[in-house]
Amino acid sequence: MRVLGIETSCDETAASVVAFDSGASEIRSPKILSNTVLSQIAEHAAFGGVVPEIAARAHVEALDGIVEAALADAGTDLSEIDAVAATAGPGLVGGLIVGLMTAKAIAAAAGKPLLAINHLEGHALTARLTDGLEFPYLLLLVSGGHTQIVRVAGVGDYQRWATTIDDALGEAFDKTAKMLGLPYPGGPNVEKAAEKGDAARFAFPRPMKGATQPDFSFSGLKTAVRQAASAIAPLTEKDVADICASFQAAVADALQDRVRRALERFRAEFPDMKAPALVVAGGVAANRTIKVALEALCRDAGFRFVAPPLKLCTDNAAMIAWAGIERLSAGLADTENSFAFVPRSRWPLDGVSTPVVGSGRRGAKA
Ligand code: KG4
Ligand code: ZN
Repeated sequence: MRVLGIETSCDETAASVVAFDSGASEIRSPKILSNTVLSQIAEHAAFGGVVPEIAARAHVEALDGIVEAALADAGTDLSEIDAVAATAGPGLVGGLIVGLMTAKAIAAAAGKPLLAINHLEGHALTARLTDGLEFPYLLLLVSGGHTQIVRVAGVGDYQRWATTIDDALGEAFDKTAKMLGLPYPGGPNVEKAAEKGDAARFAFPRPMKGATQPDFSFSGLKTAVRQAASAIAPLTEKDVADICASFQAAVADALQDRVRRALERFRAEFPDMKAPALVVAGGVAANRTIKVALEALCRDAGFRFVAPPLKLCTDNAAMIAWAGIERLSAGLADTENSFAFVPRSRWPLDGVSTPVVGSGRRGAKA
């Protein structure tokens, strides 16, 4: 089975071909035949964040070339593709329209089935593509638009155990960077500045620490950073480094506390599992301090820590193609109605969990 994936929900234009032997063979390891990602960072940098209209236009300009490149890299063409899978939400609606309409056109012209994929499902299933992970497992998604803990029990079987009541973690990194005059995207720049900083200089709050539910909050931390920065302005390079290091220490500590709750709940729900796993996904998973903190937490709690390679943790189309393959293999692909599917800027992975109080704000990214 070969599936062409298309991803355009935020500021990456991406296409990929993933192959999977769905036959009776014992070895069913999937293969990423191509994974083409064009980042729009340069287009948005001057504005300090993703501008939806610019993103949509950039997708229109780039997508056909990116799809061609992905097919060529995979050494294949549309006649050898079994299905086309495209991100249909959540995300910036302009980009979603570009990606899903392009996928519909390709699928219709080539006479192939179309799959409208939830971007979050792509993140949720990536560890099965990269590590062959068995269900159930726990997913921590930390990106520019989402901060969630999801219990993944099967294809289409997701339960959100925690979310942020205000900012996403990536958003908190980006806003912190902006306050400190560091360039966009903020996360990598905060991490770099923190390397030379003193993490003990500022005692920033650990939001939600001790709360029973594993939910997150980062807006109070952001305010504390702003207050600390304005109290000592103008900032020297050392001040910026110390604030970044102290900010990261607070984030790592808060994350450990929140995720620990979820690990405990997972243990209680699956007491017989020998080696339960925590998977991280999303751009913030690139952060070393956060990774080390989560690794330590998992070691203490007897969990396997699974961090897929970064280029498959951040937005890409291989995860969308793979989610398509998973849905087809599980008999859960609604290919009959997919041509009528309308992109959804909001599309929770778990339709059951109610929104937490104060939620609703989210960044541009999904
Ligand atoms: O997963 P991603 O590429 O896009 C989505 O949001 O879907 O995540 C981007 C986010 C941005 O907020 C960026 O600042 C953050 O991930 N990020 C980081 C690091 N690298 C990227 N945050 C902290 N440390 C990093 N090294
Ligand atoms: Zn994403």
